[in-house]
Amino acid sequence: MASVANSLIVIVLFSLISQGLCVICTNNDIKIVTTGSGRVVQGKPEWNVVVTNSCKCPQAKIKVNIKAFQSVEPVNSSILSQLDVITYMLINGDTLAPGASVKFSYAWDFAFRIFPADSLSIPC
Ligand SMILES: *[C@@H]1O[C@H](CO)[C@@H](O)[C@H](O)[C@H]1NC(C)=O
Repeated sequence: MASVANSLIVIVLFSLISQGLCVICTNNDIKIVTTGSGRVVQGKPEWNVVVTNSCKCPQAKIKVNIKAFQSVEPVNSSILSQLDVITYMLINGDTLAPGASVKFSYAWDFAFRIFPADSLSIPC
């Protein structure tokens, strides 16, 4: 009986530790939602983009891929800055807290598909 109890204690402790300490976030934990703002800028619809860190730990160096991105409305480069043809860095690589979001808007004929490309999981 004692050894069964010991095994249970070990299992409970191990699951507590693995839940509490070993959270590794990936770009799968970056959620991106695009909605129409209802505004029109230079004849093109405006789109609001919300990028959320849905992981339990902070993430930094969040990169997204957007193919042939264009906007008639300037996009704040301290929020979205281009690294190469399709890759963009969010908030200059700064840390996004768990549950926190970054927002930006652009205006083009259609909504672009924006994919999470990379991120750095910060242990917590
Ligand atoms: C761009 O975004 C940064 C960070 O949110 C903000 O401090 C700055 O005022 C913005 N610049 C413009 C032109 O909106």
